[in-house]
Amino acid sequence: MPQDNPTAPMDDREPVFQARIDRDEKIEPKDWMPEKYRRTMIRQISQHAHSEVIGMQPEGNWITRAPSLRRKAVLLAKVQDEAGHGLYLYSAAETLGATREDMIADLQSGKAKYSSIFNYPTLTWADIGAIGWLVDGAAIMNQVMLCRTSYGPYARGMVRICKEESFHQRQGYEIMLTLSRGSDQQKAMAQDALNRYWWPSLMMFGPRDDDSPNTQQSMKWRIKRQTNDELRQRFVDQTVPQAEYLGLTVPDPDLHWNKEREHYDFGEIDWDEFWQVVKGNGPCNRQRIAHHVAAHEEGEWVREAALAYQARKASAEEAA
Ligand code: 3HC
Repeated sequence: MPQDNPTAPMDDREPVFQARIDRDEKIEPKDWMPEKYRRTMIRQISQHAHSEVIGMQPEGNWITRAPSLRRKAVLLAKVQDEAGHGLYLYSAAETLGATREDMIADLQSGKAKYSSIFNYPTLTWADIGAIGWLVDGAAIMNQVMLCRTSYGPYARGMVRICKEESFHQRQGYEIMLTLSRGSDQQKAMAQDALNRYWWPSLMMFGPRDDDSPNTQQSMKWRIKRQTNDELRQRFVDQTVPQAEYLGLTVPDPDLHWNKEREHYDFGEIDWDEFWQVVKGNGPCNRQRIAHHVAAHEEGEWVREAALAYQARKASAEEAA
């Protein structure tokens, strides 16, 4: 097998690359990689970053309306964490040659995607609990797997992000526990949030494996270590008992424990809704992008000032 010889014909290098993947070696920025692998990694990492940043909007909506100073402080910390996750992930994508400007332009033009879940509104305080419990819970399911993804910078970024996500999930579940143990109105608010966020949370794992154009190749390149359906099933199995502990009802009449499979069987996801939201026709898609564009434009002066400072510092160092 030809070694990783940069002058070898392209088709000789792919088997060497695949053999590295099969040996569970981490692919690093300066390593040779198939152009399709590089593009797939930029696609997935940048869209992951977009999801973190856009995800700040629905939760940020409730910072000024949190029911106590403690809840406000916790929510502020969580939203700030999400911003950091986004910056971390944009930096990981930049190690593959993507530029921040291009990634932001692709998000704002609608060319790039971000997680469908963030196109749903946060109507009550209980939604903040449901997002922490279900959305961060689903994200952790996916991101723990990504700690073993084949691209080094992405895997290492996930280790740090997962540590913070577990705090996010716990604070959300604590909100739901407080509400479900509260007044009838509070319990009804928690049930309403579960009703509205259950199915969109299952959609976070992506289309069924049979309808996923990327999963097969992503599994071969060990970008994914488990498929969309496998992770979704694990999420359902883990989350249903948590809902039962809260005394809440999962809004799925077909949900039941299957003794033979030793998993929960659950109902069919509304894939029309999923693809409508992914295509930009969800409840809040336009609002989310408009808000991002406005914030980006408002922040232009900060970027200009930072670049001017950097240029002046560089020329001063040169002159010294
Ligand atoms: N929302 C929007 N688009 C979605 C989607 C979703 N829930 N699920 C899938 N898609 C898109 C894919 O991006 C792909 O489109 P593209 O080829 O144009 O990018 C298409 O639908 C087909 O889906 P595939 O399953 O074939 O695509 P992938 O192999 O990329 O799998 C994924 C989709 C599982 C989301 C994968 O990209 C992934 O694991 N991404 C990293 C994790 C991530 O982005 N999570 C989003 C949530 S982050 C978050 O919640 C932050 C937390 O702090 C709250």
